[in-house]
Amino acid sequence: MKSSIRISASILSADFGKLNSEIQEVEPFVDMLHVDVMDGHFVPNLTIGPAVVKCINTKLPVDVHLMISDPGKYAPEFSGHCQMISFHAELFSREKLAAMVKQTKKLGVKVGLALNPDKPISLLEPVIDKLDYILIMSVFAGFGGQKFIPETIEKIRALRARGFSGDIEVDGGINPDTIHLAYEAGANIFVAGNAIFGQADRKKAVRLLRQSLMH
Ligand code: DX5
Ligand code: ZN
Repeated sequence: MKSSIRISASILSADFGKLNSEIQEVEPFVDMLHVDVMDGHFVPNLTIGPAVVKCINTKLPVDVHLMISDPGKYAPEFSGHCQMISFHAELFSREKLAAMVKQTKKLGVKVGLALNPDKPISLLEPVIDKLDYILIMSVFAGFGGQKFIPETIEKIRALRARGFSGDIEVDGGINPDTIHLAYEAGANIFVAGNAIFGQADRKKAVRLLRQSLMH
């Protein structure tokens, strides 16, 4: 079965001063919300923690992308307020990675592993059959509004060629000019921050993304 196509709006590019009204504005048009959690240690930027995620008021599934050095410590604080949690595979040894995935699954969320652009898919091998989804970063984790790195989508192609049938989420620099490249490679969840919240007309912005997928 082909995995369903979903657009996940990254709130990193929203106005945090009126976060819930920003979310309500895009809610009718997108399929999910993507929440970037950064700790100023794994990545050189600080964003939001569980106190803010708790206050998000939405009917959409919430997808939490942990860009933090100690996901095991903090995942339980997010799990009651989201449906999906990903953390970075490159943080752990093979043995530890398996334990971390198992531990996160016990929280009752879908679990994904993320990979930065310079990290190979071989890091996922020990646990790939246990994953609900894989998040392929098409920019280096840390900031919104960066330029899409086309070479990263070869990893998506390789995962599908290898037979991975779970969801593949692509994150970073997704816009109407790049989204179809990731789609053709086999991605089915598309994170977009600047291409949605950075645009004055968010309804039109999402329509342009979906139209690009049709071509
Ligand atoms: C980057 C984050 C992304 C970011 C995407 O570290 O993981 O989710 O918000 O933003 P755009 O779509 O603007 O590249
Ligand atoms: Zn992200």
